[in-house]
Amino acid sequence: DAPTVLVTGGAGYIGSHAVLALRDAGRRVVVIDNLVTGFRWAVPADVPFVEGDVADMALVGRVLAEHEVGAILHFAGSVVVPESVADPLKYYRNNTAASRALIEAAVAAGVPHFIFSSTAATYGIPEVVPVAEDSPQRPINPYGMSKLMTEAMLADVAAAHSMNYCALRYFNVAGADPQGRSGQSTAGATHLIKIAAEAACGKRDHVSIFGTDYATPDGTGVRDYIHVTDLAEAHLMALAALEADPARSHRLNCGYGRGFSVREVLDAVDRLTNRTIERRIGPRRAGDPDSLVADNHAIRETLGWQPRLDDLDTIVRDALAWESGLETRRG
Ligand code: UFG
Repeated sequence: DAPTVLVTGGAGYIGSHAVLALRDAGRRVVVIDNLVTGFRWAVPADVPFVEGDVADMALVGRVLAEHEVGAILHFAGSVVVPESVADPLKYYRNNTAASRALIEAAVAAGVPHFIFSSTAATYGIPEVVPVAEDSPQRPINPYGMSKLMTEAMLADVAAAHSMNYCALRYFNVAGADPQGRSGQSTAGATHLIKIAAEAACGKRDHVSIFGTDYATPDGTGVRDYIHVTDLAEAHLMALAALEADPARSHRLNCGYGRGFSVREVLDAVDRLTNRTIERRIGPRRAGDPDSLVADNHAIRETLGWQPRLDDLDTIVRDALAWESGLETRRG
């Protein structure tokens, strides 16, 4: 019988999809979430749920012991880049310091495997695109630095203690569970596909395009959008790899290896809804690279991961389906 998996941030966007994937695969799961940005209803009723903070070492220690946790998937954290610039200490608290406490609790309890939600933001503005895992990590905002510092802690801890880890560096996560069980629900969205879906559902009157003078084919920013369900699957496979070879740790990009521009995303939304979102051309947003696309050879080769929903229309369609039913689901 496979050991229980602790999912921190399991009531959040990506964490809730990971909980579904683990549960669908028959793994026992326990969730810790402080519900600051997550939702209690995003966690299935049959999954044990603990409301609390991952920085609370006593609480985490009790959960690890009580549930005999054999692996941690650590999603809890703050994720809004401009907010990290305005309030850096919030990011060093919620991402770096909270992770440090969680890792210490994990080491104290002898938890052997740790999977960490890292980000392409750790690369900053890459010199070479698609960007590979051994590219320089030079974050250009506190969000990326707060995540890079946690990667560094994990590398040192894995060398010193009997724990291996996998840092998964997410590119632009979007879409929703194809079965409609979860999706992106947090208010005050900053992510393009979420914002476009809100506009398509009449919740916004326009979408701003942040810059049209980038060094890209149509002048707007190019990103590697990955379906959240493919990403959840990558976590399952990463867990299997850590369990199969406890001597090895991994740092892996999670992306599809191809990019779409802002205009291409908005055109896809228009095409799928038979409507036209109003676009307003605005200035560049600080810290946005021209193009950010993953080299994903490593995750394919190391984990045997194969994207199944690698299609912009599929991502947008699932995001739209979730967005249109969100208020009803929220109750
Ligand atoms: N964009 C717009 N208008 C909007 C929102 C976004 O034009 O209203 C553009 C951005 O300028 C960018 C692209 O759409 O070119 C994607 O922007 P997002 O805000 O959706 O995502 P980012 O690429 O800025 O950042 C995301 C996550 C970070 C992560 C980063 C790494 O927000 O957490 O990807 O790839 F670190």
